[in-house]
Amino acid sequence: MQVVIVEQPGDVASFAASRISDVVARVAASGKRAVLGVATGSSPLGTYRALAELVSRGHLDTTGVSAFALDEYVGLDYAHPESYHSVVTRTVTEPLALDPRRVHVPDGLADDLPAACSRYEEQIRAAGGIDVQLLGIGANGHIGFNEPTSSLNSRTRLKTLAKRTRDDNARFFDSPDQVPIHCLTQGLATILDARQALLVAQGVGKAEAIAAAVEGPVSAMCPASVLQLHSHATVVVDEAAASRLRLRDYYSYVLTNLPSGDR
Ligand code: GLP
Repeated sequence: MQVVIVEQPGDVASFAASRISDVVARVAASGKRAVLGVATGSSPLGTYRALAELVSRGHLDTTGVSAFALDEYVGLDYAHPESYHSVVTRTVTEPLALDPRRVHVPDGLADDLPAACSRYEEQIRAAGGIDVQLLGIGANGHIGFNEPTSSLNSRTRLKTLAKRTRDDNARFFDSPDQVPIHCLTQGLATILDARQALLVAQGVGKAEAIAAAVEGPVSAMCPASVLQLHSHATVVVDEAAASRLRLRDYYSYVLTNLPSGDR
């Protein structure tokens, strides 16, 4: 796992956007179209803004690029501003000029939710798999909506949200009881299938979760720790989110001494 500690919270976004943009360009150069994995929450918003800027300046061509969201609430109308269908349209599809037909979000309104989850896995496979998966992290270490004790081998499925996650996400709703209790989420094994994983976090509120994810044991108690099993995972954090990491100096040393060709 590569750990990148940047000075300012805004640098997290520029690092992640440039990494994603490089992937899109590299995949395009090989004659294919990139498949992005996109996260909701506030952490990746700066990255989407930085990517939108690259698109509007003509530095990033998203023609043919497709995207898969990590998760969705169950039972929340797609038109609701906090459904992840709406959030992804507003923060990703439109600003990055993606073709809406190529942007996928799990179907939290399906009559048969398990079937919708299997279909989602199939759609990811049919698209050729995810080239780069952008991730935020919950204060309890969740990624997507894989709450603590989620199976490290899980696939897209129906889950119950932890109380802490509902409380954390209540700020987006008029009242806490409006936060849905159930969700569909890509599983941890689904996330591990992405060819590259890029986790972004800012602020001291994420420091403990980041330390557990990067330096703790691989454990279902901290679902993000599963990224330690990924062969190409990068964690990009500002100083505050890095503040509980024990090997901070080592991560900076490694970054300034990368083997040539490994940047
Ligand atoms: C939500 C999302 C996660 C996200 C997490 C953190 O629960 N399902 O994908 O990483 O929140 O959110 P934030 O970035 O707003 O702290």
